[in-house]
Amino acid sequence: MIQPSPPDSNPTVDPALKQTAKPAAVPPWLLERLLAKGGEIPFSTYMDWVLHDPQHGAYGSGRLRIGPHGDFVTSPSLGGDFAALLAPQLVDWLLPLLADQATATGERLALVESGPGEGTLALDLAQVLARDWPDLAERLELVLVEPNPGMAARQRRLLEAAPLPVRWSSFEQLAQAPVRGVVLAHEVLDALAVERIVWDGTSWRQQLVRINLVGINGEAAAEPSLRLEPGEPLEPSVLSRLKPLGLLEPNSQRPEGWCTEWHCAVRPWLDHCAAALHQGTLLVVDYALEAWRYYGPQRSNGTVMAYRQQQACSDPLVEPGDWDLTAHLCIDALLIDAEATGWQPLGHCRQGEALLALGLAEQLHGLQSLPTSGLQEALARREALLRFVDPGALGDFRWLAFGRGLPNQVPRFKQEPGPPTNR
Ligand SMILES: C[S@@+](CC[C@H](N)C(=O)[O-])C[C@H]1O[C@@H](n2cnc3c(N)ncnc32)[C@H](O)[C@@H]1O
Repeated sequence: MIQPSPPDSNPTVDPALKQTAKPAAVPPWLLERLLAKGGEIPFSTYMDWVLHDPQHGAYGSGRLRIGPHGDFVTSPSLGGDFAALLAPQLVDWLLPLLADQATATGERLALVESGPGEGTLALDLAQVLARDWPDLAERLELVLVEPNPGMAARQRRLLEAAPLPVRWSSFEQLAQAPVRGVVLAHEVLDALAVERIVWDGTSWRQQLVRINLVGINGEAAAEPSLRLEPGEPLEPSVLSRLKPLGLLEPNSQRPEGWCTEWHCAVRPWLDHCAAALHQGTLLVVDYALEAWRYYGPQRSNGTVMAYRQQQACSDPLVEPGDWDLTAHLCIDALLIDAEATGWQPLGHCRQGEALLALGLAEQLHGLQSLPTSGLQEALARREALLRFVDPGALGDFRWLAFGRGLPNQVPRFKQEPGPPTNR
């Protein structure tokens, strides 16, 4: 399965954005917590705290803003065309559920979004579904799964005007009365905490975030700082998860200090999601690499990146709680985790291919028919559509579909082109 690694570049970072911010002091809340934990924590705990702490975390507090005027852009934040293109695919997945004898009269299908960010995609989808598929929309509810209170507060404000019923829930709450429908996970799995691991020349070790109170000359430092350091060797249970990714094979090109990450939180997330969805489809959209690229020797520092104010930084310790931290997904690991949690893979491809199969070229062509008074709008939409498919940017995202409790439904974006279908 693991192929030799060709030279590869990290596609997340627009070279124009590559910049290293100056190291910042450890904020008092983090210092206090670290000291309470003996001065060191696994990287995954650090990532979880700085992103999701309800008071201090970048998402937990709602400090991060998504969109062209915020900290970073995502496809849905670039305008409604993304939802318009995605909607027919969701309809393909939802209509058979509605026709199913098992659907009780009055039961609403659920369009669940995990990690809805600003709520833009949920609102855009609700609008396009209510407008173009009113019969389906009448039998549909939006369910938003958002653990971060700061983000949920903004979603509630935006979705006040949604033309579908909306509720917020957790996967655990949904598991009490599982729904049927579709779960969307757009750029959410990359916000789950990862474990960073370091090769010490003979074994794999967990990477720790450690507080440093000592200055260069051995005296007390003027200010505490954070350091990344190797900790204990990995447990056999973790090593067994790394084996199918090719990380246990000897590789002389991985020098001591070579560092990467594994996605310890993805399998529990898939498990919770499976318990919440009785029958239906899951669509994951995220930056993702095959294991042979992800763990290729040339990628010697993993994929973790920090983002703020449209800038990217490769130092995960920069200004904790003020920056977004993300890590790519590993496609092979995701497929293994999906199988282990009862999800049936339905197919995956790059976003560019998926959106072209869903009619992006026609959408682009249709802009020509906008009145000349709409020139500014047409130009902005054209730019967004081109960014969605640009292989050097959002077009390199992966779409991965999984089903449960249903006959294998090949996604529209994986079907052979045929005669045009009605929307
Ligand atoms: C990178 S943003 C993506 C937002 C939106 N989906 C988009 O593409 O514009 C990540 C979102 O996932 C949320 N999130 C983080 N961890 C989560 C989890 N365990 N379950 C659900 N949402 C989570 C964050 O609060 C945030 O809303």
